Amino acid sequence: MNRRYRKTIIAGNWKMNKTLSETRAFADAFKAILPKVKTCDVVLCVPSVNLQGAIRAFKDCRVSVGAQNVHYEASGAYTGEVSPAMLSDLGVKYVIIGHSERRQYYNETDFTVNKKVHAALAAGLRPIVCVGESLEQRELGVTMELVEYQVKAALSGVTAENVRRVTVAYEPLWAIGTGKTATAEQAGEVCSHIRAVIRGLYGARVARSITIQYGGSMNGSNAAELLAQPDIDGGLIGGASLDPEKLLPIIEAAGQEQT
Ligand code: 13P
Repeated sequence: MNRRYRKTIIAGNWKMNKTLSETRAFADAFKAILPKVKTCDVVLCVPSVNLQGAIRAFKDCRVSVGAQNVHYEASGAYTGEVSPAMLSDLGVKYVIIGHSERRQYYNETDFTVNKKVHAALAAGLRPIVCVGESLEQRELGVTMELVEYQVKAALSGVTAENVRRVTVAYEPLWAIGTGKTATAEQAGEVCSHIRAVIRGLYGARVARSITIQYGGSMNGSNAAELLAQPDIDGGLIGGASLDPEKLLPIIEAAGQEQT
């Protein structure tokens, strides 16, 4: 983390979990334990059908609500899809773009990720762009090249002014939902490379202002070590974000004094 130059953001990705009643119950329990002192930003990305309910449930606390996907067109014949303006009009602040599960199961490509980033920014949303390698790609030794390509493709054509609203989440596929976390060194190394890529594209001032998260089996036990890496400015958390008691220690780790 480096709180001097950039925000620390702890974001939960609930994926396809929790009904509206469960969302409300989570909000009640979470608000009761959430520290009042603001040391990091907290975001919860909920299923689109529960966005409005979540915004209401978290209204009187410092949790921002995010979506997990968005379409790149403004409107039209796209059955089942949600437009950027629909999200921003509801009061949604963040949107995850290019999560590996969407790349894997729903044909999300680097090209559509880039279109979605542009569309989200134009609607005033803050994209959380996911990048990361598979186990095979790591073993082939192409992690850095792959992540560099994904970052460059996602940000293609995005101006220096707009890129400040983008968060990049490094999520190695082999660490998602597996209980197998990347070591702090592995994660820190890739996140530093991501910042170097952004520096190459936009210069040092912009690069140091961008929040880069790690995601993949992050929990209360490993968060402090991961967040101690200079280029890891937060987490994108799946499983551990579903339970207030499991999410809280990660937020507390993000609030620790920096050494
Ligand atoms: P887990 O924390 O469950 O591994 O999920 C990570 C993730 O995919 C967040 O987007």
